[in-house]
Amino acid sequence: MKDIFDEVEFGDFKLKSRIVRTGTWETETEEGGFLSPAIYDRYEKIASSWTGLIISEMFVLDHKDRFAPYSSSLNYLGFVKEYKMITDICHNHDVPVLGQLAFFYYDDGDNQKAEANDLTMEGIRKLQAEVIMAAKKFSFAGFDGMQIDMGNNLYLARFINSYFNQRKDDYGGNTENRVRIASEIIKLIKKTIPDFHVSIRINPWDVRKDGMTSEESLKVARELEKAGADSIQLTARTISYLYDGNEKHPFLVYVDKLIGEVDIPVILGGSLRDMKSMNDVLNHSNVEFMSMSKPFVAQADFLADWKKKGEGESICQSCNNCYSKKTSTCFKY
Ligand SMILES: Cc1cc2nc3c(=O)[nH]c(=O)nc-3n(C[C@H](O)[C@H](O)[C@H](O)COP(=O)(O)O)c2cc1C
Repeated sequence: MKDIFDEVEFGDFKLKSRIVRTGTWETETEEGGFLSPAIYDRYEKIASSWTGLIISEMFVLDHKDRFAPYSSSLNYLGFVKEYKMITDICHNHDVPVLGQLAFFYYDDGDNQKAEANDLTMEGIRKLQAEVIMAAKKFSFAGFDGMQIDMGNNLYLARFINSYFNQRKDDYGGNTENRVRIASEIIKLIKKTIPDFHVSIRINPWDVRKDGMTSEESLKVARELEKAGADSIQLTARTISYLYDGNEKHPFLVYVDKLIGEVDIPVILGGSLRDMKSMNDVLNHSNVEFMSMSKPFVAQADFLADWKKKGEGESICQSCNNCYSKKTSTCFKY
């Protein structure tokens, strides 16, 4: 019988549990982007309470990004020093931590919002170089790896989606070509920082007419694995509309297929709220790893209670205020 608190291997990491605290912006910065004490407390609580793996909040590439006002920056004065303290907190509890890179817009130098079809070759190389620099910065700050978010409606999700990308060169057309921008990034990161874990976050499908199908998403996953990706986490623009926690998780069929097709860890997440139904999913599917976000916003150390009691349900009511108000503060508790 599988249990969320099994000790498991995740690539080269040994995890204390199957639970991943997924990317969740903190918005707890002070003047100049410096971290407020609340962030250190939050990481201490999460890392000390049986969380298997932590994925940081999103870091954007530059300050003009749509998500910049409520996420963290790689480019403020204290980045390496402060995030080294955060990663030390995680490592003191033997919890690996990945820095998450996610961006919505891309400024290629000529166009602040250059979309997939607008980007010149120089633009593509500039973008790739910036992501590799981000990997190096994460590595300097002690992160065990990074997650490149290519899910939801983020820039790279749009770039690899034929709904947005009609390029006629090697970076458009078939799936392999549309994914090339990311495959090249992953290959180069793995070459430059060999032990650095590179995770990707992708959509299992896209709800737009003529958008990405689940079959194509499987292909994307296989291409990125081939390039060297070490793990895959699922996300989707629509998860909160598709699933209220009572029905079968809408990604289960897809995730079982995906797990059958790749040899790297796959993380399922979204609306997981109680230990019993999570263990049911573990024992009735091939799922090995699960991610949660809002339950950690409602109570950062809830997993310690679940572990002690052998059962538990998050106090999170999924009101989504923490998300829609663009804070990471629970409005109810
Ligand atoms: C306050 C808040 C902040 C979030 N920030 C991020 C983020 O920085 N990066 C990311 O990939 N997803 C982010 N998400 C989405 C979550 O990672 C997750 O996919 C989503 O909340 C569904 O999972 P849940 O039901 O366990 O909350 C955020 C969600 C919330 C509620």
